[in-house]
Amino acid sequence: MIKLDYTNVLETAVGKHGLSESAFAAAEDTSQKAVAAIEDAHRKGKLAFAGLPTQHEPVEKVTRFAREHDYKNILILGIGGSALGPAALEAALSKPSAAKKLVVLDNIDPDFIATSLEALNPAETFVNIIAKSGVTAETMATFAIVRKWMIDSLGATAFRDRVAATTDPEKGDLLAIAREEKYSVFEIPPAVGGRFSVLTPVGTLPAALLGLDVEALMRGAAATAAQARKPLPENPALMTAFIQWMLDREHNKSMLVLFPYSQALWKFAFWFKQLWGESLGKRFNRQKQEVFYGQTPTAALGVTDQHSQLQLFIEGPNDKSFLFWAVRQFKETLKIAHPFTTYDSMRYLEGRSVAELFEAERKATEMAITEAGRPNSTVFVDRIDEETIGSLLMYSQYTTAYAGEFYDIDAFDQPGVEYGKKLTFCQMDRPGFQEYRGKIDNERRKDRRIVP
Ligand code: PA5
Repeated sequence: MIKLDYTNVLETAVGKHGLSESAFAAAEDTSQKAVAAIEDAHRKGKLAFAGLPTQHEPVEKVTRFAREHDYKNILILGIGGSALGPAALEAALSKPSAAKKLVVLDNIDPDFIATSLEALNPAETFVNIIAKSGVTAETMATFAIVRKWMIDSLGATAFRDRVAATTDPEKGDLLAIAREEKYSVFEIPPAVGGRFSVLTPVGTLPAALLGLDVEALMRGAAATAAQARKPLPENPALMTAFIQWMLDREHNKSMLVLFPYSQALWKFAFWFKQLWGESLGKRFNRQKQEVFYGQTPTAALGVTDQHSQLQLFIEGPNDKSFLFWAVRQFKETLKIAHPFTTYDSMRYLEGRSVAELFEAERKATEMAITEAGRPNSTVFVDRIDEETIGSLLMYSQYTTAYAGEFYDIDAFDQPGVEYGKKLTFCQMDRPGFQEYRGKIDNERRKDRRIVP
């Protein structure tokens, strides 16, 4: 289960940049509207991501499928919410030495696609096309390239057995193509949005194909979903949302630095960035007032970024809030043993462990940031495994949903992203999007200012 230490967001720790005791005393009242809205959303079935861990049939389907499809490489074609979740799961839970590898083609840089495919043998590869809408330009283009690459090597029949499409069960071209070509199809429930879909087959199918324990993932998520319905003092997701909203709106902390002290959680931070940024970055609130809300998420890795961004974090502008993610127990502690005890830089390390040094550095960073008056809180997980990752995923999704209520915006749409997609479609002459052509022709300046 998730534990949140928020000592260092208080005024008593970081002075005027922190939240006052009176803000916390009033938090129960302040958050009542957000809690009521989330409960209402539950009743109306709108928080579909929260119910996923207790649906057994989709989990059984992906685990059964994975048993029958044993491939060395799992190649994902998807982008945004259809790629970041599986990438985060693999990075957190699969060892670099694992026999199975996940390759995620979530960019259409042609050199990236070509060199990624060069490194793979089609005969050892399973392809999973993921797109909720079933029409995303990047994914459909990559699919066309990969389909040809597979067919050229394996032939059209053998190829079909090695493809699964994960998409909306009712609409979209990907669904139609998958049916036409007889690919296996996995459903993203219509009520679950892209960036909230990691616990659907978007994440669970690749996880199962990699040999991860999907049931444990769901167990952790289910326990944290229950925790996320508790009253404020026992509810880390609600508390985190309240804190970040207050820090942003009342203390101008317009950036949120996600700071895992765990290599395993590095890609998880990228998944969280999308969740937080796309959900809360909104021009209008629910009353259609122009608000331009959103806390810009960025990521730093402990300890690596201590030697990179930390100087800025401590002495640069005090416009950031920090969310550390700490792991209580690592699988390995790595005892340090060496004969160089005459050297100052080595003597003190002898007999200690890398885990101890890592923990000392985490605490040192926390202390330095706090002393500099920068509000920060820490999310603790006991260890890194399927259960705790499921827990962190659910905590993050609930935190985002609660934050949407505090900001009073729709955390589940993404009009900015959709608009960008339309401008791309019209440039590529996709029928139905000609009306956007004028925008490109008239508003994109022809007289470019270019140096040299
Ligand atoms: O959260 C979202 O809805 C988006 O970020 C989508 O995940 C992203 O645009 C990809 O969409 P799709 O899954 O339809 O390809």
